[in-house]
Amino acid sequence: MFANKKVVLGISGGIAAYKAADIASWLTKNGADVRCVMTKHATEFISPVVLQALTGHAVVQEEFVTGPGWGIVHIDTAADADLLVIIPATANIIAKIANGIADDALTSTVLAATCPCMVAPAMNTNMYRNAATQHNLQVLAERGWHILKPACGHLACGTVGEGKLPAVEVIEEEITGLLLPRRDFAGQKVLVTAGPTSEPIDPVRYISNRSSGKMGYAIAEAAVARGAEVVLVSGRTNLQPPKGVRLVNIGSAQQMLEAVLAEYETCDVVIKAAAVADYRVATPADHKIKKTDDTDELVLHLVKNPDILAELGRRKQHQLLVGFAAETNNVEEYAKKKLVKKNTDLLVANDVSRPDAGFDVDTNQVIIFSADGGKITPPLASKRKTADYILDAVQDKLAARSK
Ligand code: CTP
Repeated sequence: MFANKKVVLGISGGIAAYKAADIASWLTKNGADVRCVMTKHATEFISPVVLQALTGHAVVQEEFVTGPGWGIVHIDTAADADLLVIIPATANIIAKIANGIADDALTSTVLAATCPCMVAPAMNTNMYRNAATQHNLQVLAERGWHILKPACGHLACGTVGEGKLPAVEVIEEEITGLLLPRRDFAGQKVLVTAGPTSEPIDPVRYISNRSSGKMGYAIAEAAVARGAEVVLVSGRTNLQPPKGVRLVNIGSAQQMLEAVLAEYETCDVVIKAAAVADYRVATPADHKIKKTDDTDELVLHLVKNPDILAELGRRKQHQLLVGFAAETNNVEEYAKKKLVKKNTDLLVANDVSRPDAGFDVDTNQVIIFSADGGKITPPLASKRKTADYILDAVQDKLAARSK
């Protein structure tokens, strides 16, 4: 299954280090070339001889190797890797990586790696919940690291709580997903809207909002990676369009409506992540509005914009429709109302007042509501990873339809 895949398996010093042997064995049996890198503390918990026997390669423990076969070990180890995973990841190794420290073989290898990376944190509950650890994990998530959520259970310290290494099967599933990207959207046309709309006041000014477009662009990128034909209808952003998408740039809500309707008939899935302005200036000036000396006020007359999502909900036939709800309070209540009112199949709600889930940050924590009453709460993750959670929910819906 993993022929031609090179996996760097980092092991840091936690009691769960022995479980890394199961992962090393499973990867090797499935054809992967596995290179283990252990911290000094990890070798207190499991002998490198075990990992060497399972993988058929000497375990990297030192950066400085002399004599025959010498090389720049951390660079050679990281080179050409398809995936780097750290199992288990202690609070200490997470903190070092988040701060770019490279003071041993594992942290130096991490710094040299350019492949997708994943950590499986495992530690005492208080250490896991400590603000420093949470902050460091968020830093890694923002850099695109995949973070496994620890399980709850009996911990080595004698307590019961969050911080246990997830079951080996859970880790294996995650690794499989990272090594063998799914093509489950092959043959599907997915339209994504992203970014803010800009409603003109005059030829040089407009009303807009704080949307960065990052969530919508991440969804477009994930959908392309999973084999979809993707049309990205985008307002003004500073982002590079993901490779492989067809980009349609728009300004106002009216232009977004026209662009989306032009594609709607042939779409299988529409995901409306854009932050559409609810109001526009009734009659934008055709020349630059000048300041006047006789008044300190400028009154703009606003009128309601079309609700694009609601219009798509009304016209829906075979399409699967996904809306978003950006809220600052009563998230669940407002989200469920929007799902019904706009006739969507899924509604992705996020609390934009949270520092780790709002505008312009690289992480998100969403709740996905389904028209059949279901509710999914993915963990805090990078927007790219969150995009996959959303697409997974879409796939579940498509699968349920075809039953
Ligand atoms: N939306 C839309 N057209 C609009 C307004 C919103 O298509 N004129 C879509 C957004 O793209 C999003 C969903 O509707 O998918 C919800 O947007 P949101 O701004 O959260 O809610 P609103 O419907 O605008 O309601 P309110 O601003 O009162 O929360």
